[in-house]
Amino acid sequence: MNATVEHFESLRGEVRVPGDKSTSHRALMVSALADGESTIRGLSPGRDVAATSQIMEQLGAIRNDRDDVVTIVGPADGLQASNAALDCGNSGTTMRLLSGVVSGVPGEHQLIGDVSLSRRPMDRVAEPLSLMGSRFAGEGARICAPLHIVGTNALRGIDYEVPMASAQVKSAILFAALRATSPTTIVEHVRTRPTTEEMLTRAGVSVASIEGDAGRRVTIQPGRPLARNWQVPGDPSQAAFFAVLGCIHPDADIDVLDIDNARERVGFLGVLQRMGATMTLRSGDSMTSLTVRSSELTATDVHAQEIPSVDEVPVLVVAAAAAEGVSSFRDVGELRVKESNRFEGSLALATKLGCRAWSEGDDLFVEGLGSATRFSTFELDAALDHRMVMASAVAGCAGAGCSIGTADTVASSYPQFFDDLERLA
Ligand code: S3P
Repeated sequence: MNATVEHFESLRGEVRVPGDKSTSHRALMVSALADGESTIRGLSPGRDVAATSQIMEQLGAIRNDRDDVVTIVGPADGLQASNAALDCGNSGTTMRLLSGVVSGVPGEHQLIGDVSLSRRPMDRVAEPLSLMGSRFAGEGARICAPLHIVGTNALRGIDYEVPMASAQVKSAILFAALRATSPTTIVEHVRTRPTTEEMLTRAGVSVASIEGDAGRRVTIQPGRPLARNWQVPGDPSQAAFFAVLGCIHPDADIDVLDIDNARERVGFLGVLQRMGATMTLRSGDSMTSLTVRSSELTATDVHAQEIPSVDEVPVLVVAAAAAEGVSSFRDVGELRVKESNRFEGSLALATKLGCRAWSEGDDLFVEGLGSATRFSTFELDAALDHRMVMASAVAGCAGAGCSIGTADTVASSYPQFFDDLERLA
């Protein structure tokens, strides 16, 4: 499906972004692994999370929905292998975390995905999970889907340094480690979102994190999570689209309500503040709300460590395109292995807006036009990538309009995105 986005004269109002995708996947998995009844409020309505939910049911969990409350009952004798393939759709988080979960479920598991997901490297989870004792096969040197995993209830604990910044890899190991016969220690040099560690701790599993200058060391003891009641906060990575939109649109005043404020997730707010965003934050214990107004942005230097997982880079590139001066995004090579090649996609987007944009190794540079009013109208194929759809829509809405190919992919994470956008107009 193609979407046409027009420039809106002014943007006013508040947005409640969907439940955090990362928390939603994990709430479903932890609940399915537990013995008994858990509840989840505020689950992400996206297709990615629906894929995880469907798979947990295939493996034996029971789901019931009433109003906004999802109830998951984990089977007393644990998850069981399914004869049918486990379809992860477009969702890398589903496939990678699930690889860890099924590594500890005896039997054979077939994991499949769409064209985009089937191109993404799974060697990053195959390596540690194989060291733990699961048998892992996939296509080619990078072990792409379809995956064939033979799980066992005799996994070994490992000591493992995650070679790239990836919460998905860390989480896959943590889920497998629940079923190991000895503790597992994971070292990450870049601190990625601690969602899995925190949720497993709340579910009674013993997880210890030690922070050092060189990163974080997480040690987990084997164990079964306890059933819990989960409340999913708003998704900060979705809030980033409205935060940038509010800054670069010439006449905007937008409130974004109740997003998760884990420091690994809200680095984009610091970037926008440095660029001169007119933004007010109201922070509670674990959630933040923001008000963003039209701003004159100046260029900045962003390092991947500031926004681990680099999910917000495409939309920050749009902010950089509207800013005065040359912005740099350093060490963002991980963008190449997301739902699409976001490294090339972000360069293409900035170029289509009329900017000079270029790369050097894993660094990306954008010379801004000084205002979104100077953006060109453009067409972009989002290549089955929800975040490229939303970043393009932000640029089109603040600038001169655009046409986006494969825009329906937005439903992977945010089915109501275009409705929420129109409501602000
Ligand atoms: C996620 C981790 C990130 C991110 C993805 C969600 C998670 O991926 O891009 O949208 O929930 O763990 P990486 O682990 O590849 O950085």
